[in-house]
Amino acid sequence: MIMRTLCCLVCILFGFYPFVLALDGRSALVHRQAQQNSSAVLVDFQVYKPVEFVPESTGCNEVLLLMEHQFAFSYGHPFVGNYVPPACDFDTVRINLTVTSQGRQYDRLALMFLGDIEVFRTSTAEPTTNGIIWTYIKEMSQYLALWKTPQKLIFDLGNLIDNTYTGPYNVTLTASFTKQNNVRVADVILPISSRQSANNVSSAFNVPGDNATVALKIPQTASRAIVSISACGQSTEEFWWSNVFSQDTDDFNSTVGELYGYSPFREIQLLIDGVLAGVVWPFPIIFTGGVAPGFWRPIVGIDAFDLREPEIDISPFLPLLTDGKAHSFQIKVVGLNTPPNGPVTLSQSVGSYWVVTGKVFVYLDDGTTNNSVNASERRVLPKVVAPKPEFTITRNLVQNSRTGANESLSYSVKGKRTFSITSGSTSWTQTLSYSNVGLLNQQGISQRNILSTTGESSSSGIGLDGTQTEYRTTFNYPLDVNTTYGIGKNSLTINALMSRGLEISSTGGLGISTYTLTSGPSDLQTKQWGTAYYSSITGGSSLSSGETTDKFTETSGGTTYNRYVRAVNGTVIDNGQNSEPISPLAQSGWRFSPGRASVRSILGRGPGKLYG
Ligand SMILES: *[C@@H]1O[C@H](CO)[C@@H](O)[C@H](O)[C@H]1NC(C)=O
Ligand SMILES: *[C@@H]1O[C@H](CO)[C@@H](O)[C@H](O)[C@H]1NC(C)=O
Ligand SMILES: *[C@@H]1O[C@H](CO)[C@@H](O)[C@H](O)[C@H]1NC(C)=O
Ligand SMILES: *[C@@H]1O[C@H](CO)[C@@H](O)[C@H](O)[C@H]1NC(C)=O
Ligand SMILES: *[C@@H]1O[C@H](CO)[C@@H](O)[C@H](O)[C@H]1NC(C)=O
Ligand SMILES: *[C@@H]1O[C@H](CO)[C@@H](O)[C@H](O)[C@H]1NC(C)=O
Ligand SMILES: *[C@@H]1O[C@H](CO)[C@@H](O)[C@H](O)[C@H]1NC(C)=O
Ligand SMILES: *[C@@H]1O[C@H](CO)[C@@H](O)[C@H](O)[C@H]1NC(C)=O
Ligand SMILES: *[C@@H]1O[C@H](CO)[C@@H](O)[C@H](O)[C@H]1NC(C)=O
Ligand SMILES: *[C@@H]1O[C@H](CO)[C@@H](O)[C@H](O)[C@H]1NC(C)=O
Ligand SMILES: *[C@@H]1O[C@H](CO)[C@@H](O)[C@H](O)[C@H]1NC(C)=O
Repeated sequence: MIMRTLCCLVCILFGFYPFVLALDGRSALVHRQAQQNSSAVLVDFQVYKPVEFVPESTGCNEVLLLMEHQFAFSYGHPFVGNYVPPACDFDTVRINLTVTSQGRQYDRLALMFLGDIEVFRTSTAEPTTNGIIWTYIKEMSQYLALWKTPQKLIFDLGNLIDNTYTGPYNVTLTASFTKQNNVRVADVILPISSRQSANNVSSAFNVPGDNATVALKIPQTASRAIVSISACGQSTEEFWWSNVFSQDTDDFNSTVGELYGYSPFREIQLLIDGVLAGVVWPFPIIFTGGVAPGFWRPIVGIDAFDLREPEIDISPFLPLLTDGKAHSFQIKVVGLNTPPNGPVTLSQSVGSYWVVTGKVFVYLDDGTTNNSVNASERRVLPKVVAPKPEFTITRNLVQNSRTGANESLSYSVKGKRTFSITSGSTSWTQTLSYSNVGLLNQQGISQRNILSTTGESSSSGIGLDGTQTEYRTTFNYPLDVNTTYGIGKNSLTINALMSRGLEISSTGGLGISTYTLTSGPSDLQTKQWGTAYYSSITGGSSLSSGETTDKFTETSGGTTYNRYVRAVNGTVIDNGQNSEPISPLAQSGWRFSPGRASVRSILGRGPGKLYG
């Protein structure tokens, strides 16, 4: 096929421009052909402050290929490889994840483990018929304690191929090792995971099916300890922020099918020996197939390529945990019980399912500060002040008095929580607030949710330099999403509006944060907004369009990075400048693909059947 195309081109070129051949011969043609094809490939990206893959180094400077693998029928079959540290002295590790795909495929979640410990959670962009590529560079030095010893590398990207979903993901993963005189990072990292690496599979818990509890022994010379939590909803929990109260899941069964319940509020809890140690009110991540695919090509959603892990300082528990015995660490995900005539309470469960892991970053007393827990402080429970969170809800289901049909549902949740835990001069406090206003109208065919989650945490204690320090972090996760479906006999449309943001300000913390993705003080302000449209004829073709703007500012590590970028039907307009228009091939690959059977089979929610 390729040969025939080349022959033909040679004839044409020979006929019209014989001098081209004389100058460059066949290689010029091959080059031309390659360029044309590469321009058919859409380059996807996440807007983030660039991380240099191989920073200039005075000492160690090594790049290792960790994985080159095609994920096709890969459910339950992760890539398994052996990592051996380079022989030079390094303190900085960064990875380059580069992925290509072509065809049709869902957005997929991927988790990377070193042994039983998750070190990276990402998701894929959805391919187009002419192919996509993206690269993401990630700071990995916070896991130095793991990179210093041989590890089993497990990369779990569950994918399926069939007649409809044809795109495998080709993934290349490289790591660079350099010496930068980086900040001090954790000495020991312990998994809160299902610890399945010996069986060559992912160590993620699937909650609520799994009991996400482990017993861990914390080193007795621990001076500080931070738990980070990686958690995101899938399936009926992917759009948890738009879920309804459990009594409303059948309100619009005949128009949009089953809605998902447990309310649009979620809390992830960390319990140590059964005592609440801190909570996470999650960021509403949207993957590249979420809400409407046209938003996320080629700019993917905030954090879609690198899901942040919020942190909880558990140092106030160290007097209890450093007794040389094993202690239980549990992660729970809860929503709300909203009985019609009763008080609102946290539910003990949620829908299926959340992918959850955690880990404990332990900083040892290195002898310079004598900061480890002394014998007389041992076995002392910290003082926990954790009043019940307060929730108020409203709900109004409007029925047509003549036909009895449910016309609309409006509902809202407001929530607040404060939490504090103290032991001596060490403390961890959190103040959180949540608000969600939802409206489903046109018999559920149209749904809008306006969400705001804000919070502040502070952590006090003896820092790694031996002095009393306090770190403060505030965040804000605004979101406004309105999706309207149109259902014809053999056709469907999706019309969506989206506006969302992520703001995180931090005065710093220990080591390199899995939440701010940097060390020291940082300030991140980012927003995305746009419109997207999708239409599909069953058995025919589909058309996608979209317009997304991304505004990003991050100050960290003493520098500021700004970007303002828009993508209109696939063409990227960067910082107000018109860049190269998308090629016709990339354009058609982006816009057209075979029609789909139902909204639910595309988005995982909305009218129609999930499969088939
Ligand atoms: C280049 O693209 C054309 C058109 O999409 C395709 O037919 C051909 O197979 C591609 N060639 C290579 C080498 O990928
Ligand atoms: C990342 O890896 C890809 C594939 O190996 C490579 O083409 C690209 O140049 C790398 N990017 C950087 C910044 O090193
Ligand atoms: C993925 O890798 C396979 C095998 O090496 C190759 O045939 C295919 O063209 C690659 N796909 C893309 C989209 O790069
Ligand atoms: C795990 O993978 C390694 C390397 O591929 C193999 O040698 C080992 O037998 C596998 N273990 C299990 C339990 O499958
Ligand atoms: C979860 O596991 C822990 C530790 O094995 C156990 O104490 C607890 O009862 C379990 N919880 C449930 C709900 O099974
Ligand atoms: C209206 O909503 C109620 C409560 O969910 C449900 O029981 C009822 O079946 C719905 N009516 C129709 C016609 O779908
Ligand atoms: C919802 O609709 C489906 C398909 O029409 C039907 O099979 C199912 O029984 C309905 N469920 C409820 C609770 O009404
Ligand atoms: C730490 O404790 C050791 C032993 O008790 C003592 O010799 C040393 O001076 C102390 N160091 C500091 C910095 O207080
Ligand atoms: C151990 O801690 C207690 C309580 O903070 C303090 O009173 C005592 O002096 C400490 N002992 C040593 C040996 O540092
Ligand atoms: C959502 O958008 C649709 C279509 O643009 C509109 O009809 C509907 O009123 C909007 N919903 C809300 C709550 O604004
Ligand atoms: C994007 O494509 C849609 C559908 O073809 C079209 O209606 C819209 O005008 C396009 N947007 C721009 C800015 O060209």
